[in-house]
Amino acid sequence: MSKVVVFDHPLIQHKLSIMRDKNTGCKEFRELLDEISMLMVYEVTRDLQTEEVEVETPICVTKTKMLAGKPIGIIPILRAGLGMVDGIMSLIPNAKVGHIGLYRDPETLNPVEYYCKLPEDAEHRELIVLDPMLATGGSASAAITFIKQRNCHNIRLVNLIAAPEGIERIQKDHPDVDIYVAALDEKLNDHGYIIPGLGDAGDRLFGTK
Ligand code: PRP
Ligand code: URA
Repeated sequence: MSKVVVFDHPLIQHKLSIMRDKNTGCKEFRELLDEISMLMVYEVTRDLQTEEVEVETPICVTKTKMLAGKPIGIIPILRAGLGMVDGIMSLIPNAKVGHIGLYRDPETLNPVEYYCKLPEDAEHRELIVLDPMLATGGSASAAITFIKQRNCHNIRLVNLIAAPEGIERIQKDHPDVDIYVAALDEKLNDHGYIIPGLGDAGDRLFGTK
């Protein structure tokens, strides 16, 4: 069964509360998502491999650690996942970025794929899938399935807010994928929106409604 990490850091909780407020505008919403994504990176990458290297400081030669192992790939689910890319890239600037375009059919709530472009060497990378909202889990589960079909198997999922239904879906469909969320909310409403949530993440990020 995959691990679920819920961030309880006061800075993250504070920033997320401002994002939830319906009176928070696009610009601030985008900035906050960027900041929270950056803060989440620390924990999401805690288990990355390091190796001992020799460095000469101005004082002496010493042994110290640097990242080793698989390089990172970041895969935002379009469109709202785009809002998490810059925050993560500011800490992992060498990461390659793939994109998966999915939208939820408003009637069936089923995900429809319209775009997929992954780094050429994605199968040799540690992949971090990004989407602010994990509601029914249909979109994230489908995205992970597409990624696995391309022979990639080191995948972790990072969301801002998840509903229990979404967590359950990912754990059932992809028990090998660990999930990192800033908040685990109560449930979904009849339209598949997270309660209390923050509304439609894509619309709030890009000002489309
Ligand atoms: C939202 C969100 C997720 C999905 C979550 O995207 O960003 O991708 O819904 O819902 P699910 O867990 O029930 O699949 P949406 O389909 O609204 O597309 P958008 O990002 O283009 O706005
Ligand atoms: N997608 C969103 O953007 N928000 C929700 O609450 C559910 C799905």
